[in-house]
Amino acid sequence: MSGSDFFKALGIEEGDRGAVKRFAEVSRVPVDRLRHYHAANILPSGPDRDRVCAAAGISPAELMLRMGVLDGRILAALRSKAREVFELLRDDLEDSSGPLEPPPVVYKTDLGKLHHGDCLALMKHLEDESVDLVFADPPFNLKKLYPSGVNDDLKEAKYLEWCESWAAECVRLLKPGGSLFFWNIPRWNTYLAGYLNARLTFRHWIAVDIKYSLPIRGRLYPSHYSLLYFCKGEKPKTFRPDRLPMEVCPACKADLRDYGGYKDKMNPRGVNLTDVWTDIAPVRHSKYKMHRGSNELPVKLMDRILEMASEEGDLVFDPFGGSGTTYVVAEIKRRRWIGIELGPMDDIVRRLEQIRTDANLVGKIRRGYNRLFTEETLHARKQLGLWTCDSVGKTKGETP
Ligand SMILES: C[S@@+](CC[C@H](N)C(=O)[O-])C[C@H]1O[C@@H](n2cnc3c(N)ncnc32)[C@H](O)[C@@H]1O
Repeated sequence: MSGSDFFKALGIEEGDRGAVKRFAEVSRVPVDRLRHYHAANILPSGPDRDRVCAAAGISPAELMLRMGVLDGRILAALRSKAREVFELLRDDLEDSSGPLEPPPVVYKTDLGKLHHGDCLALMKHLEDESVDLVFADPPFNLKKLYPSGVNDDLKEAKYLEWCESWAAECVRLLKPGGSLFFWNIPRWNTYLAGYLNARLTFRHWIAVDIKYSLPIRGRLYPSHYSLLYFCKGEKPKTFRPDRLPMEVCPACKADLRDYGGYKDKMNPRGVNLTDVWTDIAPVRHSKYKMHRGSNELPVKLMDRILEMASEEGDLVFDPFGGSGTTYVVAEIKRRRWIGIELGPMDDIVRRLEQIRTDANLVGKIRRGYNRLFTEETLHARKQLGLWTCDSVGKTKGETP
């Protein structure tokens, strides 16, 4: 990920409008375009690159180094001189941050501990390779007001630098065979995926079909969150994806697709989970959305992730508590867990103390899995004379 900044690379002071204007005149690259390169930390290409470099008196390779946008050729050159480069940078690369106090535990169960404070301060005190599953749902830098007061309007480079700092710790904490999930908008997960690709094994980019903003002029309507799924080592210790019921018409329960002669090939335990999840509804209903301002994720999402990639007794870590969905679902599913939140904790504690509500919801969700038709659909289809596993001669437990 990049932590550099275009104007700084050209020797222009932050916020110095006059200097930007002068540079535009000298380079003959319009101010608007310079600002765009700056805002998105994009390396100019074509004539713009040559003009910018000539005006700044640097070569394209130096511009890339200054911006931290390195191509294969520069990386190869750096690698071939790794010893010399390291000696040159030794002082800058040494970790000078002093030991931080571990954030206090404010709530405990037999399975988990909830801390109050900054996740980075907590992670420094957790052991290498001690966690079976990491799930992280950080603020998305979309100018949201969080009860914790975190700044959700950082410069892109600053936000990515911060993401890199906790991502590095998550990678360190993950056990070999452990699974890691990062939930974010696609824009940020493109960077995080690049970072993780060099450290862990890519499993999936899961698109979770949820709209998260109003339509934006001149853009496609943003309609999926990205769920990055990586594991440490060649393959995950646990991989048990749920099978889902076959999609039917919600009103008449008839097939949505023509299965024709394939009906008897359908697995009575349901259809394979894909990397596009269309059945996760955002938490909106007032009955469940008791936890205001915390961006609560659906229990169904966390249930699916924990079921797929962890087992009872495994240790789950989520650095961004919010309303505690991860901890509550971990508790219900008998996973051990470590939690932390910077802001108010009352929502998390309340949910853990009244865990029955979420446990009932998880129970209801699970009754719909690993079968081709839910109880309700099966009943309706029998009444309507539509095919069922029995009618096409398949019994539960048989797998094709
Ligand atoms: C998107 S919300 C997480 C929501 C959560 N997944 C849920 O389902 O309720 C992100 C949370 O991270 C918290 N947060 C932000 N920076 C933090 C930090 N450095 N350490 C701990 N928590 C932090 C915010 O206060 C916010 O509650």
